[in-house]
Amino acid sequence: MKFKLISMDGPEYEAERLLRWEVLAKPNGMPPGTEILPEENQSLHLAAFDKKRLVGCICFHPESTHRARVFEMAVSEEYQGKGFGRKLLHALEEMLIKRGISDVYLYAKEDSEEFYLLMGYQPEGEFIVQMGQKQRMMRKKLQKIGTIDQHG
Ligand SMILES: CC(C)(COP(=O)(O)OP(=O)(O)OC[C@H]1O[C@@H](n2cnc3c(N)ncnc32)[C@H](O)[C@@H]1OP(=O)(O)O)[C@@H](O)C(=O)NCCC(=O)NCCS
Repeated sequence: MKFKLISMDGPEYEAERLLRWEVLAKPNGMPPGTEILPEENQSLHLAAFDKKRLVGCICFHPESTHRARVFEMAVSEEYQGKGFGRKLLHALEEMLIKRGISDVYLYAKEDSEEFYLLMGYQPEGEFIVQMGQKQRMMRKKLQKIGTIDQHG
């Protein structure tokens, strides 16, 4: 698997959007186009490729010199459960550490909370309903490369 930061002007962005729609929006009955978020223009998009196929993605928005929000993480359905999500999240975290980011947070859907717990994220506060889905903030303090967590 290869990782690459992709540009919204580049050829891979369409595939990233399609993946986000199929994995994140479509299961909730949301039509194509609803996967596009206002904040993605100010965000960086990391994609995972198997050969030339885009099979995973994750976006992050630096909010300060040390804090970033992670969002729109998705792994293509047939690639789920094979360790791709862990590798993609770790690749992103290593990239964030190199950029001086030490505090990362995200909103996890209830059914993906266990995944983020395994990746070292801790829930904060109560569940809220966003876009019809129960979600909760989860946060992780990033440490130097090689000590991100014990699972990977
Ligand atoms: C959640 C998601 C990103 C995880 O990626 P993945 O490639 O399937 O996960 P991995 O194979 O790397 O799994 C790593 C570990 O997390 C566990 N895990 C993965 N998804 C899980 C889930 N939804 N619930 C509980 N555990 C999960 C795996 O069993 C594995 O555990 P192990 O190390 O003990 O074997 C992916 O399944 C996905 O895209 N799901 C649909 C979209 C989604 O929910 N995105 C998150 C939005 S908040």
